[in-house]
Amino acid sequence: MTFRRTKIVATLGPASSSPEVLEQLILAGLDVARLNFSHGTPDDHKARASLVRELAAKHGRHVALLGDLQGPKIRIAKFENKRIELKDGDLFRLSSSHSRTAGTQEVVGIDYPALIQDCDVGDELLLDDGRVVMRVELKGADELHCRVLIGGPLSDNKGINRRGGGLTAPALTEKDKADIKVAAEMDLDYLAVSFPRDAADMDYARRLLTEAGGTAWLVAKIERAEAVADDEALDGLIRASDAVMVARGDLAVEIGDAELVGIQKKIIAHARRLNKAVITATQMMESMIHSPMPTRAEVSDVANAALDYTDAVMLSAESAAGEYPVEAVQAMARVCLGAEKHPTSKQSSHRLGRTFERCDESIALATMYTANHFPGVKAIISLTESGYSPLIMSRIRSSIPIFAFTPHREAQARVALFRGVYTVPFDPASLPANKVSQAAVDELLKRGVVEPGDWVILTKGDSYHGTGGTNTMKILHVGDPMV
Ligand code: G6P
Ligand code: MG
Repeated sequence: MTFRRTKIVATLGPASSSPEVLEQLILAGLDVARLNFSHGTPDDHKARASLVRELAAKHGRHVALLGDLQGPKIRIAKFENKRIELKDGDLFRLSSSHSRTAGTQEVVGIDYPALIQDCDVGDELLLDDGRVVMRVELKGADELHCRVLIGGPLSDNKGINRRGGGLTAPALTEKDKADIKVAAEMDLDYLAVSFPRDAADMDYARRLLTEAGGTAWLVAKIERAEAVADDEALDGLIRASDAVMVARGDLAVEIGDAELVGIQKKIIAHARRLNKAVITATQMMESMIHSPMPTRAEVSDVANAALDYTDAVMLSAESAAGEYPVEAVQAMARVCLGAEKHPTSKQSSHRLGRTFERCDESIALATMYTANHFPGVKAIISLTESGYSPLIMSRIRSSIPIFAFTPHREAQARVALFRGVYTVPFDPASLPANKVSQAAVDELLKRGVVEPGDWVILTKGDSYHGTGGTNTMKILHVGDPMV
């Protein structure tokens, strides 16, 4: 049995909210549905979320829900006539006092007055993901006078970044704070924080989410130059999060596209080393917004992220607003499976030369070492409370599937993001202790994952509850009597 190990995150939007399309996305292999709080109302998101949960249950699938906060994206306001055309060399002003609805060929309002203080003469500003570039030539009390370096069309509400990063907008806006409450109400499995600067931004989001009663795991979107400035900054942000996203859109604008690929590889490696999950996002199948087939370059992008051992690859507009959302998920699934055949995605250096910090981590890594070196092992069963034990296992490259056996809905959904991890609903506490191993293996026999004669590794703790308690690994021979 071949399981796809790299997981697929797809953004839901107008193109993917009907029950028919959603059902097809789930059947095509959707693992995590992303709800983008930058668009739509809480009611739209609630309707999509309950439809996803309903349709996944219908097909016996576990699809996690990821909410994505809008964050403090700095934007220009609107134009009198929706759009203008800037030419190289033009003078153009960004003004905090100009009307928010009446931008002209010479000036446009901005939503974020602190931009004026934050910028200095000589700074380069990138508008609309870098399609239009201008340099600050003069700073007034409430406006920046800029010279256009790269002209082009500019329309309502386009984003502004500064080359090199460093704009100081706090990561959580009032809208984000309200959306955190919505996320808690919806019992979302993951919540992504946009533009976090450092660990403190993540800690603050976590405090607000906990206060609102949410249990979502927090995803830091890595999209500011400061976040990748050095290893200390990056690792600090990763440690304060449960998972990270390589948010390539804004990140590439801030650090330059030439730096992006190297930084992507580094973020994936660091996240995995620090025992966190990682999503690679933005423009992975961009041409599929209008085409049923990806380009070779897109195939290569998805495959390379899979070879670097990202947990998941993500679709944005392709699935939210494109013409071929189902084909995009199918293409990703196909390309990931292909990449996973390559030997480098099965081999591991097993953290040789490193020390482990915890007992459960030691068991998890010993399990992977054994699974990768004992050819008869066909599956790993991890009895888990939170999904933590299988998360650690899946930080190690392997071709052996890891099954998270858990009675908890939250953990069942959460592991959908982890590379090579699948869930089996299972409550060991409802069985006599000497029946647990056999009952667990029976679940895999029933699903056709193993057959008599195969080996299976099972991990658990001394008691059948309590996260962090994993201290045992058993090697079981399928077909032999088990205790
Ligand atoms: C289940 C098992 C326990 C184990 C725990 C680990 O509850 O029955 O024996 O200690 O999972 O959970 P964790 O969240 O750390 O993976
Ligand atoms: Mg972004």
